Amino acid sequence: MAERPYIVGNWKMNGTRAMLSEARAIDRAAQRYMKVEVAVAPPYTLIHAVHKEAEQIGVGAQDCHSGPEGAHTGDINASMVADAGAKFVILGHSERRQDHGETNELINAKIESALEAGLRVILCCGETLETRDAGGAETFVLDQLKSSLGAFQDPAERLTIAYEPIWAIGTGRTATTEDIAAMHTAIRKLLDETFGEEASSMVRILYGGSVKPENATEILNTPEVGGALVGGASLSAESFLGIVVGASETEEA
Ligand code: 13P
Repeated sequence: MAERPYIVGNWKMNGTRAMLSEARAIDRAAQRYMKVEVAVAPPYTLIHAVHKEAEQIGVGAQDCHSGPEGAHTGDINASMVADAGAKFVILGHSERRQDHGETNELINAKIESALEAGLRVILCCGETLETRDAGGAETFVLDQLKSSLGAFQDPAERLTIAYEPIWAIGTGRTATTEDIAAMHTAIRKLLDETFGEEASSMVRILYGGSVKPENATEILNTPEVGGALVGGASLSAESFLGIVVGASETEEA
């Protein structure tokens, strides 16, 4: 594993100010697990408040617009989330691809603007069950990554990949550790070929999809798994911290 295991909570469209107490609890507890890098991506409306609470954990956004300020009602761009306190942005999540028709080309433009605004990027990829059953998961995911990354050449600590099979998101169903290891190894090979081994080694590959305290240690001990992107189980400090504890018990932590 390149660095400390990275455990990121994606709160999705959940959270009002009442959730700040969870963020505070996560932050305070994370100080006991310094071998694990912990972060949360609350909705836009809470980024600044969580940032102000956070002493230890990283705070990020779940998306951003690809362009500069301008006439785009309802949109928020990379420099605006950075100004609110975000240090990273999740891009290309399957829910954005599905709900908002986001293409690899658009995601590539978002990556560029996020990096320009000084943000780190967590780039998501993942296949549908139909694609997996048809035997095309690996080709699909690698194509998704190649197109989303475009000509991006320099990952130096700025890039994280999250492999999230769509059929494992919010379903309670996780991929087998064999499937996860196979996909993560294929992604690593692509990163090695694209960036060279040294730069690739700085890019962590997270797994996401129904990660919870009960399965975290096994998943996080899988080869090439550098952490987890957690949805549902990140909404309470108790379950999210259970995953952080699991990460602190991995061999690399
Ligand atoms: P769940 O952990 O709820 O399956 O969500 C995973 C996810 O989509 C994180 O981005």
